[in-house]
Amino acid sequence: MTSDPSSPVGAQATPQRFDLVVVGSGIAGLYAALQAHEHGASVLVATKGTIDEASTRYAQGGIAAAVGSGDSPDSHLRDTIEAGAGLVDEEAARILTSEAADRIADLVRYGVNFDAADGEVALGREGAHSAPRILHAGGDSTGLEIELSLSSLARREGVTIREHTLADRVIVEDGRAVAVRLYDALRDERVTYEAGNIVLATGGAGQIYRVTTNPQVSTGDGIALAYGCGAEVMDMEFTQFHPTALRLPERPIFLISEAVRGEGALLYNAQGERFMPRYHEQAELAPRDIVARAAHCEIGEVDGDHVLLDITHRDADWLAARFPTIYRTCLDAGLDMSKDRIPVSPAAHYTMGGVRTNSRGETTVPGLFAVGEVACTGVHGANRLASNSLLETVVFAKRAVERLFEGAVSPPLEPSPDARSLPRREDCVIAPQAPQAEELRELMWSNAGIVRTRLGLAEAATLLAEWQSLMPPAHDRTSMEMRSMVVCGRLMTEAAMLREESRGAHYRSDFPETSDEWRRHLVFRQ
Ligand code: FAD
Ligand code: SIN
Repeated sequence: MTSDPSSPVGAQATPQRFDLVVVGSGIAGLYAALQAHEHGASVLVATKGTIDEASTRYAQGGIAAAVGSGDSPDSHLRDTIEAGAGLVDEEAARILTSEAADRIADLVRYGVNFDAADGEVALGREGAHSAPRILHAGGDSTGLEIELSLSSLARREGVTIREHTLADRVIVEDGRAVAVRLYDALRDERVTYEAGNIVLATGGAGQIYRVTTNPQVSTGDGIALAYGCGAEVMDMEFTQFHPTALRLPERPIFLISEAVRGEGALLYNAQGERFMPRYHEQAELAPRDIVARAAHCEIGEVDGDHVLLDITHRDADWLAARFPTIYRTCLDAGLDMSKDRIPVSPAAHYTMGGVRTNSRGETTVPGLFAVGEVACTGVHGANRLASNSLLETVVFAKRAVERLFEGAVSPPLEPSPDARSLPRREDCVIAPQAPQAEELRELMWSNAGIVRTRLGLAEAATLLAEWQSLMPPAHDRTSMEMRSMVVCGRLMTEAAMLREESRGAHYRSDFPETSDEWRRHLVFRQ
């Protein structure tokens, strides 16, 4: 460990150097740390909040794996490719679906208890899956069960964990990532750790939007860190909006799982009309982007802020057993799902783009890996299939750790020949001062949200570039997160402006058709 010249360093009992520094303690970071620890590596996990604060703990629906009778990895692969709207990397998706069952077995070995029915693992159904294949735990608290199982195991195994410690720079020497600079928020000091290898597992960037299901830690830090040190970032125009987040005045946004629609819930507009059959033959179980856009459109018709989700054909006991967290949360808000329709709206949910990696988690910077939601492996394409993200974290974290310890060296990830960098936009001076987070979130929600236009995107891109130039050096967690969100916002809006078509989750009302010419990825490199 070395001190950053800008801040003092307290006494340290930990070693100066770790074989592996993992940034983030959601499922991706903890699983990678446990795997590396099993290989005998010295591992440091740095995480910016408490260990369990991550998107992972809020995951409800579950984790997809073709383990049911009559189902197959090939069928799961077909659904994944179909949902991804022409941009799924087929080889990566084949790996995802064929290695799923083994990774589920790892999670069980690490203590995760999946729900069972009649002695068999219980499998739920979600949108655009052609079979029931979603393993869940505690009904609708799958993520919490996974997060707590992995974090308590990591502690028991003696993995070194630093909470309230935020990575704010990846240090590259001679083209290789060699160290991470960390900011210890409790001591207000910066410390640099040298690392044999670095794994970014920092999750997504949902906090960049005003309406989101993501927790506060999801500010896109890993994407900004990777871009800042020269790694490539891909597919940033694709943010997934979940169609059904609870929308009540004075209440935080809370996800109502797609699994509720999987159990037969229907969507109604303000006129009491069931609208989804008008939009897609699979109605409420259509791909997520279609349901989110339909809900957005129906809400716009009446200038309201929600549509209604109805599962009143199920009784209270059944709902309390199958969806205990959702049922209780609605009840606390004065809504009984067995009697009342639930007000819901779309919300930013998942960052499909991220740090470009190969199928072993390698980025274009040797020594730097990215796993989980921060990464872009290509398995989601333009629209992620529900419950494929928890699966992606473990499948590719496993392969990244194997890559670290394998003897033979496979070819690294080649830089993309047509990567571009963020354009300079110095010509306009429209922002008098550095932004507040709320301004940024509102801007992204209204100008780079579910329905986009060139005009709105251009306005946002210019403002974001201006904000970036006005931001003083980051000195604490809030300013570091703001810096990350501005970089991610720029990557998202520039990519969305370039992609003059509609595909998957990226919808341009000025280019509503999908174009073959755009069946390609947009890659950025500084
Ligand atoms: P996260 O779990 O988000 O963990 C990221 C970690 O990085 C956190 O510990 C964070 O504190 C840390 N971190 C971030 N920046 C820094 C930094 N600069 N320095 C140090 N640490 C940092 N997917 C499914 O497959 N099935 C589901 O049912 C499902 N339901 C969901 C429900 C909700 C409400 C949400 C928000 C997401 C859901 N998802 C679901 C998506 C899925 O939960 C996430 O994609 C997945 O958990 C991501 O795991 P991760 O480990 O990559 O990131
Ligand atoms: C949900 O439970 O609806 C979320 C599932 C997912 O995001 O994959």
